[in-house]
Amino acid sequence: MKVWALVLVAAFVIIGISAVDKNKFKTCSQSGFCKRLRPFKPEKSQYSLNLDSILVHGNVLSAEVVTIDAADEKRTVLWKYAFKLSALADGTFRVELDEADPLYPRYRTQLALDGEPKADGLKLISKDDGKVILVNTQGHKVIITSEPLKLEFLDLNGEVAVVLNENSQLLVEPLRARREKVEDEDGDGANQLDDEEGTWSETFQSHHDSKPRGNEAVSLDVVFPDADHVYGIPEHTDGLALKTTTSGDPYRLYNLDVFEYILDSRMAIYGSVPVMYAHGPKRTVGVFWHNSAETWIDVVNYGEGNVVSSLVNLVTGGQKKRVDARFLSESGIVDMFVLMGSTPGDAFRQYTALTGTTPLPPKFSLGYHQCRWNYMDEADVRSVDENFDVHDIPMDSIWLDIEYTNKKMYFTWDVVKFPRPAEMVANLTAKGRKMVVIVDPHIKREPGYFLHEDATELGYYVKDRDGKDYEGWCWPGSSSYPDFFNPVVSRYYSDRYRFENFPGTSKDVHLWNDMNEPSVFNGPEVTMPKDCRHYKPPQDGLEGLAAYWEHRHVHNEYGLWNLRATNTGLLDRADGVYRPFLLTRAVFAGTQRYSAVWTGDNTAEWSFLAASVPMCLSLAIAGNSFCGSDVGGFFKYPEAELMTRWYQAAAFQPFFRAHSHIETKRREPWLYPAATTALIRDANRKRYALLDFWYTLFYEHTVDGLPVMRPLFQHYPDEPATYPIDDQYLLGDALLVKPVTTAGASSVEVYLPGDGPWYDVDTYVPHKGPRITQPVTISKIPVYQRGGTIVPRRERVRRSSALMADDPFTLVVALDANNSARGSLYIDDGETYEYKNNKYIYAKIEFGPDEMTYTLASEGAQYPTGAWLERVVVAGIRAAPRSARLQQDGRQTALQMTLHKGNDVLVLRKPAASMARPWTITFAY
Ligand SMILES: *[C@@H]1O[C@H](CO)[C@@H](O)[C@H](O)[C@H]1NC(C)=O
Ligand SMILES: *[C@@H]1O[C@H](CO)[C@@H](O)[C@H](O)[C@H]1NC(C)=O
Repeated sequence: MKVWALVLVAAFVIIGISAVDKNKFKTCSQSGFCKRLRPFKPEKSQYSLNLDSILVHGNVLSAEVVTIDAADEKRTVLWKYAFKLSALADGTFRVELDEADPLYPRYRTQLALDGEPKADGLKLISKDDGKVILVNTQGHKVIITSEPLKLEFLDLNGEVAVVLNENSQLLVEPLRARREKVEDEDGDGANQLDDEEGTWSETFQSHHDSKPRGNEAVSLDVVFPDADHVYGIPEHTDGLALKTTTSGDPYRLYNLDVFEYILDSRMAIYGSVPVMYAHGPKRTVGVFWHNSAETWIDVVNYGEGNVVSSLVNLVTGGQKKRVDARFLSESGIVDMFVLMGSTPGDAFRQYTALTGTTPLPPKFSLGYHQCRWNYMDEADVRSVDENFDVHDIPMDSIWLDIEYTNKKMYFTWDVVKFPRPAEMVANLTAKGRKMVVIVDPHIKREPGYFLHEDATELGYYVKDRDGKDYEGWCWPGSSSYPDFFNPVVSRYYSDRYRFENFPGTSKDVHLWNDMNEPSVFNGPEVTMPKDCRHYKPPQDGLEGLAAYWEHRHVHNEYGLWNLRATNTGLLDRADGVYRPFLLTRAVFAGTQRYSAVWTGDNTAEWSFLAASVPMCLSLAIAGNSFCGSDVGGFFKYPEAELMTRWYQAAAFQPFFRAHSHIETKRREPWLYPAATTALIRDANRKRYALLDFWYTLFYEHTVDGLPVMRPLFQHYPDEPATYPIDDQYLLGDALLVKPVTTAGASSVEVYLPGDGPWYDVDTYVPHKGPRITQPVTISKIPVYQRGGTIVPRRERVRRSSALMADDPFTLVVALDANNSARGSLYIDDGETYEYKNNKYIYAKIEFGPDEMTYTLASEGAQYPTGAWLERVVVAGIRAAPRSARLQQDGRQTALQMTLHKGNDVLVLRKPAASMARPWTITFAY
């Protein structure tokens, strides 16, 4: 207990100091393989492909790759590798390089892919002059140069779009057996490596890593010709477009609980998604580095001013634009997917085709979430709930952080503070609200705690380097961690979420898995030691080191396994009828299939509000559209203006939740001056008015795999001015949002791409780009609707989203230069999987000068919604029609219209059409 007390004291002493303790986390030079291999830049790659070994079978070319020392005249083969190039569906290739005959199997990341990728056709075109040329069914060519090995991927214009190993940084460190004593019999120093510091053990501060398998790093460089920028590889805090890393450290991907993380940094934080996109006017392409070990990524953008031009010429042969990247991981194999684009949307979709999309969320989860560490008891929850009604602020869920549990033992309640959880939840659901509770993966080592007793008895914990249950320190004190890699453990864990195993919960209690990097307060870099042992399916003949995986192999996907087990549990507890909501802090490729994400423990400062946009944009293009930041900031207290701007910004971000640290002053909306409360109310109402727009975007994401929150360049790939923009973004292709993120702002500069016009959503005043100065008062949220789009709204104020189900719609039609516009609307029951049985409506809405139509776009799909059309607002109307008639179900009704001359807005009043069936409005002039 003494150690625990110390940890507690240390944790609370640090609060108040305003920046991360950088010393706790490794720099590249403190990370053995990064230090060893970052300078590795051979003149010529040792890797070459044996042309005689080539075999093309189906969509796969396989071949032997060998390493040969360039200086060796005898060309002795140093090591043999198995090479595979696969053509995959939708313009994607996969390149794999593993040892041909490793001492024991190397780790292959298990859970990132959403099943086996779909195959495409691959045809061998030629094999001569040391080159192999292949083509997929779309016509993308691949040129493999055999010596030294190089892969060029050509776009459909026959231009080189991606090159692998151009910079000779391909590397797979062979696994070797450790010798007790290094012998150097012939005196040529060949065995020196065994002595080399760090090969068989490493130390960071007081933490010793036993490295029983020795060095096993992998590396590969990528060149993107013609690219202006590269993007992706979240989670970092330094902006959407990635920067050249030649000074300072590379970008790091290693899921870590970084206390009071800092901005503009390439340090690792909670999430790691190793997908990178390169974009320029010619094309967008991407690469996905399929590896779950600690990873460092260097970037050199030759188009950036700060890379000296002589070097640019030397390296790129005069190419004006080019970005180079290099992926370096501690273990695993070389496994890289190449996404051929060619538009940004194509590349984003190609990535989600591999790793999955976010399933349709329950509708409430797109509403507003109220969280705090902690709502302390049932009376506190009741009072917060009631105050939202007193102050007329819509809200969909109240969250409980770790203090609801009995001494941080998850799946239990503190019976003093929360004696009647089922009744507490029922009180919320009576108003259409939900509850979300936290369950962290660390398990208190407490005698009598069923979870600990079961896990100990059944051997369900992650093991330490000696094979004993690993013990670390976290919120409950001494803790152990379930080894979700064992299917039996995951199954057991999933079952803990059954209603009978977690009393007080119901289908309306949803989940939050925090601390799942995993966070270990006393571990190296606040996480699990790399030499901890994870389950590996037993295999004949594999024993010793080969019988388990080390934490170093799987680290970045630990959280994903935790989420999968939780997600399974939430589905199973309700017999697969209800859609669960789940939030995570740790992120890896594929996380989007199970969970929403948030950007972790941020700070109540303007700069963190601003950072929420690029951080979520990076996550969104890496598959995780359902992203948000703690509204108000987790640490410190936001004054009224910052709090107002934060609500206004977050009301237009996918995941909308207020959260705060236990030591900070309470900050529910009504605790501010009345004027601020009113502004927060207004921001939340704006969110709820657009809930169906959000819901439709999330539905479309499940179909097309495109992000919900989008960088401008996704829709304006030919407009270079959009490439670096990350302080504004698009929702779908319809709304452009530019949140106010500075104190005392009286105006903001907004970039409006394309031809426009862009209509201010508050005034319907059209604006033409590319740049405008938007005056802002404290109540203004700069949001613009693109001409040519139709956005559904619901204007009635309710307590929660569930109570809006049958409310009428307003359709806002923003006209383009041709007086036309298009939109869509998705409607279902908001909470079950019945939409998979065709119980939904997906409507296409079109407006032309002569008629407006609402048609059900999915054949056979129906949903008996009571919602109806209350109003059509047409912005940008130049010639007003003389009359308008609605037709539905064979009946015709003349509609009343009002034309607002000042801003060219036509309002059609009370069409009263049912949204369950098609309708048409015809105009006469
Ligand atoms: C549920 O609501 C009722 C009526 O407001 C209240 O009396 C009761 O204490 C609430 N129960 C809990 C557990 O909060
Ligand atoms: C308007 O119509 C013309 C002719 O059909 C078309 O070329 C143009 O792209 C349209 N403009 C917009 C903004 O849709």
